[in-house]
Amino acid sequence: MDLDPNLRNVLYLAAAVLFMFGIKGLTHPRTAVRGNMLGALGMLTAIVVTLIDKQMLGWGWIIGGLALGSGVGAYVAIKIQMTGMPQLVALYNGFGGIASALVAGAVLHGWIHGAADDGLSIFELIENGGQSPTQAVVATMASGLIGGITFSGSVLAFAKLQQLISGNPITNPLLKIANGLCTIGAIGVAIMLFMHPEQVGWYWALVVLSLFVGVFLVLPIGGADMPVVITLLNSYSGIAAAATGFVLNNTVLIIAGSLVGASGLILTKVMCVAMNRSLTNVLFGVMAEVGVGPSSDEIYAGKVKAASPDEVAMLFDTARKVLIVPGYGMAAAQAQHVVRDLANLLESRGVEVEYGIHPVAGRMPGHMNVLLAEADVPYDQLKEMDEVNATMEQVDVALVIGANDTVNPSAQEDPTSPIAGMPIIDVGKARTVVVVKRSLSPGFAGIPNPLFAANNTLMMFGDGKKAVLELIAALKAG
Ligand code: TAP
Repeated sequence: MDLDPNLRNVLYLAAAVLFMFGIKGLTHPRTAVRGNMLGALGMLTAIVVTLIDKQMLGWGWIIGGLALGSGVGAYVAIKIQMTGMPQLVALYNGFGGIASALVAGAVLHGWIHGAADDGLSIFELIENGGQSPTQAVVATMASGLIGGITFSGSVLAFAKLQQLISGNPITNPLLKIANGLCTIGAIGVAIMLFMHPEQVGWYWALVVLSLFVGVFLVLPIGGADMPVVITLLNSYSGIAAAATGFVLNNTVLIIAGSLVGASGLILTKVMCVAMNRSLTNVLFGVMAEVGVGPSSDEIYAGKVKAASPDEVAMLFDTARKVLIVPGYGMAAAQAQHVVRDLANLLESRGVEVEYGIHPVAGRMPGHMNVLLAEADVPYDQLKEMDEVNATMEQVDVALVIGANDTVNPSAQEDPTSPIAGMPIIDVGKARTVVVVKRSLSPGFAGIPNPLFAANNTLMMFGDGKKAVLELIAALKAG
């Protein structure tokens, strides 16, 4: 059945509006669930309208594909640990990219057959269908190119984060040359495709070259930059989808793809600022110049003071303002619920408690916010980095739970540090710092942290959850 074009466009517009309100909702934890639902409703609307409007395949194929895709998606989403979320997102981006490239390729095949059957050129066939031929062919090129880069880059990012291969940056002058050659080759092949769209081999050659470009893009990027790359690839997947929207002449796909492309790019920029990486360096796989910093022994020897839960509890007895700074270790220990219990206990004793949230604490954007929201921590207690830094001198006890890089003063003080220039939560300025972690092991960036040896720092060694439970017990007993 063919839907009335006006009705179809109105329904597509409704879906697009739902996407926009969905994204708006996602900007705040309080409205995030509703935002998610609105986005999902928009997607359902878009899918149903497209299925009714264009029955390109039999229902058996469509339902089979939906069931298979949804089944795998649901299984993976249920199984995945919160800490594995970045690599899952990477994989989803990659699937989005390759889906766009495959759909654009399928449409091109359709055009080639249609043109041959009707004795027309592809450009004439597309024009007869009411589309701009130049726009349609250029969009096909963009889908193949960006979709291919997104797929291979995302799969490689997944493999690095999942530690299937080393997460270290792989840099080599030969790689740069190979990258340059593939990029030039891809541009050349794209031009050939534009001139001879009836020769479908150019399209698939473009996709293959793009796959290589995607690999070369991600190979030189080390673990620390991976979150930025994943958000960038997310943006690419949106741009590839928007391009495929132009190929299919489908407005809702153009709008949805543009929204993903734009919001992914904004998030990439936010992450770059939070990690002090320029977007150009990330885009071109340029790593920060890293010096050989002082060793752990030089930093820690004879200076680290360990404290027991009883000793830390005594500190809280006299504290009026406490700042909790969570990091990846809180997620790994699943300590968010006991952290909330500790905060409630302190508040019941008249202590003012706030949480300082670093934008890249944990392993994905908003990681700490999600965990603390899950533990019903009131949103107004979650403060952004700049806000807590401005009042750090008034904090009696900064309780760092499983955070490391995001509170590492080397980022500010050592220009040769791998994280040099990254803004940090400057807990060192609080009266006393208590760090809860299992050992002096480094965090994600793999470097020692002078905070642990600072005069005003006490280390409370132990698993995040267990240590906080012991602290609660000590407070209650005291
Ligand atoms: P990290 O610097 O990664 O440090 C986490 C610390 O948690 C480790 O030093 C570890 O020390 C401790 N830990 C691990 N398991 C623990 C447990 N069960 N109980 C207590 N402590 C535990 O964390 P961060 O400060 O949150 O910084 C995040 C880092 O990840 C940054 O470098 C950031 O760039 C990077 N990154 C961020 C993202 C996003 S988007 N958020 C994505 C990927 C990477 P022990 O082993 O001694 O316990």
